[in-house]
Amino acid sequence: MVIKGDILFTKSKDDFEIYENGFLIIEDGKVKAVQQEYIGNEDIIDRTGKLIIPTFVDLHLHANQYANCGLGNDEELLTWLEKYTYPEEVKFKDLAYAEEIYKEVLTKLWEGGSLRSVIFASLYKEASDLLFKLTIDSGLSAYVGKVNMDRNTPDFYIESTEDSINFSEELIKKYKDNELVKPIITPRFVPHCTIESMEAQGNLAKNYDVPVQSHMNESLAEGVWVTQLHPEYKTATEVFEKYGLFGSSSKTIMAHCIHNTKEELEMMRKRKFYPVHCPESNANLTSGIMDVKGMLEAGLPVSLGSDISGGHHIFMPNQIVLAIQLSKMKARMEDNLTRVLNLSEVFYMATKSGGSFFGETGSFEEGYSADFLIIDTSTIMAPREVRSPVERLEKFLYIGNQANITERYLQGRLIDRPFKD
Ligand code: GUN
Ligand code: FE
Repeated sequence: MVIKGDILFTKSKDDFEIYENGFLIIEDGKVKAVQQEYIGNEDIIDRTGKLIIPTFVDLHLHANQYANCGLGNDEELLTWLEKYTYPEEVKFKDLAYAEEIYKEVLTKLWEGGSLRSVIFASLYKEASDLLFKLTIDSGLSAYVGKVNMDRNTPDFYIESTEDSINFSEELIKKYKDNELVKPIITPRFVPHCTIESMEAQGNLAKNYDVPVQSHMNESLAEGVWVTQLHPEYKTATEVFEKYGLFGSSSKTIMAHCIHNTKEELEMMRKRKFYPVHCPESNANLTSGIMDVKGMLEAGLPVSLGSDISGGHHIFMPNQIVLAIQLSKMKARMEDNLTRVLNLSEVFYMATKSGGSFFGETGSFEEGYSADFLIIDTSTIMAPREVRSPVERLEKFLYIGNQANITERYLQGRLIDRPFKD
């Protein structure tokens, strides 16, 4: 398969690789080469004038919070969870409701070109199982986690430690060998998991070699709560590390990581650790601004998440733009403009960096999964406006929308809108 167009990707965070009128050559679902000339006898899929970019990777969202997008933003994290989030999530006992919402979320991920994502599913086993099935049906790739919470939650929304662990294990066994949709162990955050639960989840991670996702250092009140619950430890990192949930055996995603100590950063660097920046969520819940630049400089695979419904846009370009804008505000307030994030850095976070959680995805280097989007920017150009490929990408990210994405490919296969009928 050979596709012609204006090809853009970020091999490193520092710059775009640009092949204007270039050729993307694909074999067995993987990138074979990107080149400026093509001499061969394959039929060429001609997308001249359009952009060809890697698909987006959303490394953190909650499928069960989708109906809350745009709500509750006068609250900070802990009251937002109680007032808005749990009353919505409890509805997923009803599988008919769950099915409608999950189909909508998967369709929106598809529309926005986020063909790979890492999802918090439900506290309930049945709803989580349903999300696995529907994700497989959709043709998208994802890690799906049954949410575990067995302490300090409202009475109407809690489960026993045994259920948390047994149901997690059941789903791990059922889906661990699926190629595109895989399980991920999901302690909600330290305040909601007993020591017994964390210990057992750490053992599951190790025994089944399954990754872990959670939240950490998001709000100051959360940090105080963690140290009240665990006075013997200084930080959430120490608690997670103690129970094998900090990337010691398998890869670990932690959303937010805003209020970190130097010791925590050091530990992140030693582990298989993915900090996820969720800019819109952090702004909505007045959580703070992650030091993304510092994380990138430390060599951490910092990635990007919509954190639906902490964030209210599932379309990753909204998160890319806000990450850049927040970095500018933070740099200005700190009077240090070297801390501003640029376009290639954040595009890299939303493609190759997040993509690396799935293996060789998110770039067009040889051997990478052929996951790409075709972008038509003609409708967002002013009359007579002529721009370079990178300028057109920037305009798409800032003022484009889902309709500018005209085709979506995963592993070299065209993915159709899911659940059409
Ligand atoms: N911390 C614990 N649960 C949540 C959640 O659902 N969203 C966010 N943003 N932070 C959390
Ligand atoms: Fe979250």
